[in-house]
Amino acid sequence: MSKDIVLTGIKPTGKVHLGNYIGAIKPALQIAGASDCTSLYFMADYHGLNFIQNRDEFSDLSYSIAATWLALGLDPDRVIFYRQSDVPEIFELSWILACLTSKGLMNRAHAYKAIQDQNEQLGVDADTGVNMGLFTYPILMAADILLFQSDKVPVGKDQIQHVEIARDIAESFNRVYGDTFKLPDYIVDESTAVIPGLDGRKMSKSYNNTIPLFETAENLKKLISKIKTDSTLPQEPKDPETSNIFLLYKEFATPAQVQELRDKYLSGISWGEAKQELFQVVNAALEEPRKKYYDLIAAPEQIDTILSEGARKARALAGPLLKKVKSRIGRYS
Ligand code: ADP
Ligand code: TRP
Repeated sequence: MSKDIVLTGIKPTGKVHLGNYIGAIKPALQIAGASDCTSLYFMADYHGLNFIQNRDEFSDLSYSIAATWLALGLDPDRVIFYRQSDVPEIFELSWILACLTSKGLMNRAHAYKAIQDQNEQLGVDADTGVNMGLFTYPILMAADILLFQSDKVPVGKDQIQHVEIARDIAESFNRVYGDTFKLPDYIVDESTAVIPGLDGRKMSKSYNNTIPLFETAENLKKLISKIKTDSTLPQEPKDPETSNIFLLYKEFATPAQVQELRDKYLSGISWGEAKQELFQVVNAALEEPRKKYYDLIAAPEQIDTILSEGARKARALAGPLLKKVKSRIGRYS
């Protein structure tokens, strides 16, 4: 039996925070570690170009995302890890797929619709701030996915529609030219809690309430001390299940540590002490990855070597399918 192809893309658009790590990176690394699949993980830098059009920021964020995944344990010997823009086959396929995609399908894509709705509310032209990269974003994503005959695509909930669009586009092509592309399925981890930020809302860079993953120990401590708590007195018992501090603690502590803190909550613990306990476990878990991250950032040529090797492997996989697609459309040579 051939192994399943698991593929996912990571957009370099901001500093990675604890919510991204727990909600997306940790589960994706667990899936990638499974031995019964071939995993392709890539940095979707040309998707990021829709949003980041400052030269230094684009470059820094791309390296930062790659270094983050490597520091957290992505093993480039087990996972084909590459930079999207190093694989020109993706962009060639993207054009071919664009020619088989109706504009109406793109009109319904949620990122585009969200901007249109926002513009309408502001009373400005519906297409203000929309570039063609944003409008055709799902076609490039379909090319990312279909070029490798992906079976499974781990994504966050917001990306489900894009994987469904990739299926629609694959079906359109297959209908016209005969069975060519596999139809991909998304994998969404329903059990992952929404990690709360400093103010209790979902941790998100849009809300400015994040705990970035690779802060110094000192800053990490300061940020944790800012997590919003209620006014129960130090000696009063507290409910661990409704505490955001406890929720984060569970993600980093051992089962024995979790039990110990639960007991302390029930017998009464000050919020200051609970935050100190949280800092200890988060800092201990991130100490080594943090060091690795800064070592990699200081040696971008190491990251380049890993990504180039990944791109070489990815292109070797992509070449035959693109050739087949070209012959299907009537480009034989
Ligand atoms: P942000 O909301 O900070 O802009 P992104 O939208 O770039 O984050 O999310 C990247 C990935 O991290 C997605 O798969 C998303 O589901 C996951 N993610 C983001 N924030 C959280 C959170 N607070 N809790 C759990 N998962 C999250
Ligand atoms: N659009 C995804 C996001 O915003 C990133 C992405 C690009 C992707 N290409 C992909 C994810 C292909 C899965 C498969 O997070």
